Amino acid sequence: MLLLNDSFLLDWHWLDFDELDSTNTSALTYAQKLVPYQKTVITAVKQTAGKGRRGHAWQGLDGNLFFSLVLNEKLENLSKLVLLSSLVLFLTIKELSGKLNLKLQLKWPNDVFVNNAKISGILFEKGEGDILIAGIGVNIVHAPSLPEAAYDATSLKNVGILTDRVTFLKNYLEFWEKTRDTWFKNGFEPLKNLWLENAMGLNEEVCVTDGNKMIKGIFSGVSDDGALLLDTSHEIVKIYAGDVSFFSKDIVK
Ligand code: BTN
Repeated sequence: MLLLNDSFLLDWHWLDFDELDSTNTSALTYAQKLVPYQKTVITAVKQTAGKGRRGHAWQGLDGNLFFSLVLNEKLENLSKLVLLSSLVLFLTIKELSGKLNLKLQLKWPNDVFVNNAKISGILFEKGEGDILIAGIGVNIVHAPSLPEAAYDATSLKNVGILTDRVTFLKNYLEFWEKTRDTWFKNGFEPLKNLWLENAMGLNEEVCVTDGNKMIKGIFSGVSDDGALLLDTSHEIVKIYAGDVSFFSKDIVK
């Protein structure tokens, strides 16, 4: 592992490595030392053992973006940060898409879909004290083939957006700053509403699985603390973790 860059991107301390097993694992290891800088972003050109949600692997295809934000944030804000991080991805891709007229959607809790296919993934992990790691992978030029997954994957290049990992990262950090400021100034409600305006499957029947449990209902919204609200016709259930499946033919392979 070679440190290619130790500089600043906006006011983020940026550490760029040629190769890491996982930017999240490195962020967790170095978080304590990095705290004085407050905001740090770790990237790797190549990631050899990327971690996905629910114990899945995240493929490290050449030219894609792999980064982890080291955040000094309280655990109680986790669900909001999960929504924020995906909303920021959505806004970044939307701006880069210009006049392409793509179908962009957010899938609870933190996926972005472009033209009905997954383009990015986010994995939050908790470090020591008030350290939260937001690990983000964006398919810049390659989409993995995922025969076992319920959905297709795509890349920015596939949908006509030509960019590179550093340009995308700069744009992402700019939107992060603006969106985090809006949260400080106006509370979380405006962000939650913007998230919901672009949510996949809102007011439709969905199925949520968490480990062995499976529950069906109408996806009726998101609570103030970021949980999915599921109307099962007996009650509104708040779900903090799980995978959502939709029945819409557009999305299912
Ligand atoms: C998902 O399963 O959708 C989440 C994938 C998260 C992948 C990113 S790539 C950068 C960071 N480092 C990791 O090991 N995982 C995250």
